[in-house]
Amino acid sequence: MKAVRVLEYGGQLVLDDVPTPTIARDEILVKVKSTAVNHFDLVKASGTARQILPIELPWIPGHEFSGVVEQIGSAVAAWGPGDAVFGGNERGGAYAEYLAVKPAIIARKPSNLSFEEAASVPVAAQTAWQGLFTHGHLEKGQTILIHGGAGAVGAYAVQLASHAGATVFATASGDDEAFVTSIGASQVIDYRKAQFEKVLREKVDVVFDLIGGDTQKRSFLVLKEGGHLVAATQPVSQEEAAKHRVSGEMMRLEPSADGLGRIARLLEGGTIRPDVATVYALQDAAHAWKDIAGNLPGVHGMSPSGPGASRRRSHGKLVLRVA
Ligand SMILES: NC(=O)c1ccc[n+]([C@@H]2O[C@H](COP(=O)([O-])OP(=O)(O)OC[C@H]3O[C@@H](n4cnc5c(N)ncnc54)[C@H](OP(=O)(O)O)[C@@H]3O)[C@@H](O)[C@H]2O)c1
Repeated sequence: MKAVRVLEYGGQLVLDDVPTPTIARDEILVKVKSTAVNHFDLVKASGTARQILPIELPWIPGHEFSGVVEQIGSAVAAWGPGDAVFGGNERGGAYAEYLAVKPAIIARKPSNLSFEEAASVPVAAQTAWQGLFTHGHLEKGQTILIHGGAGAVGAYAVQLASHAGATVFATASGDDEAFVTSIGASQVIDYRKAQFEKVLREKVDVVFDLIGGDTQKRSFLVLKEGGHLVAATQPVSQEEAAKHRVSGEMMRLEPSADGLGRIARLLEGGTIRPDVATVYALQDAAHAWKDIAGNLPGVHGMSPSGPGASRRRSHGKLVLRVA
């Protein structure tokens, strides 16, 4: 089969012919239709985080996919050839024509979504769900500040929090204000122009931090006592959390079929919607990586789009069409 691989840390992406995976009794072979690009594809491939995010080289990136079941192992009962599915996995491997997966990480593809749209959902939507509800304990009537509200994870977080009956504040670029408001935020703060802690209307029950650094440090100032700071990018200082009498935790996505099934139902009902910025062919994965690297300075030897550079895209996921 064709697959895009990383042969060495920091190396180029290479389109290769590689053996099609064989499946164990409890696995499913998926013919991949689309996959999507995530920051941690680039981070893992760069080797900069190899202590916490190790990979086996050569490595096929791709932590989410949509496709059609090609073959099932003898112990798999719930799925059959021809079923349209989508899912997210922790190991990668989806920049390829075929992928072997466990049933525990897939769900039926929402019927109203294209394969390109479906491939863009699993990582971002499940991260948002788990960040808000599993780690942030967000409830109806509470308030939340979401940093990076226009991004892939942030846009699901805004939609899910708003649907859950929370009041949503978000930070984003000014260009994205109308988009973030349209999906449920009641106040959008332009992070390039204002300090959120100076303009936020009130203190919040939960901060969902998709940015880190100084943004995370300043987030303690806007949390109510007893509130939760949930971070997706870096660990939270327990000293600072104790000082401000809040809880602080870095989350790590745990893909789950049940969780993804719940998200699929919300997509089918039109309660939440996907956001695809650009679809590339699989063999153009390197272009997609250059595009996303603009949001991820210094990773994989790519230079970010510096100050004043024109923005290639506003918001939404980068998808790779495989078949
Ligand atoms: N822990 C986990 O399990 C997990 C899972 C998934 C993702 N993540 C991480 O979560 C982060 C977000 O991922 P993503 O896929 O949503 O990224 P994304 O689509 O690139 O979105 C990032 C967004 O943040 C905005 N932004 C940049 N600097 C900002 C700032 N200082 N304040 C507010 N907004 C700012 C960007 O806007 P502009 O482009 O306009 O600057 C962009 O809209 C990444 O670091 C990713 O690695 C972690």
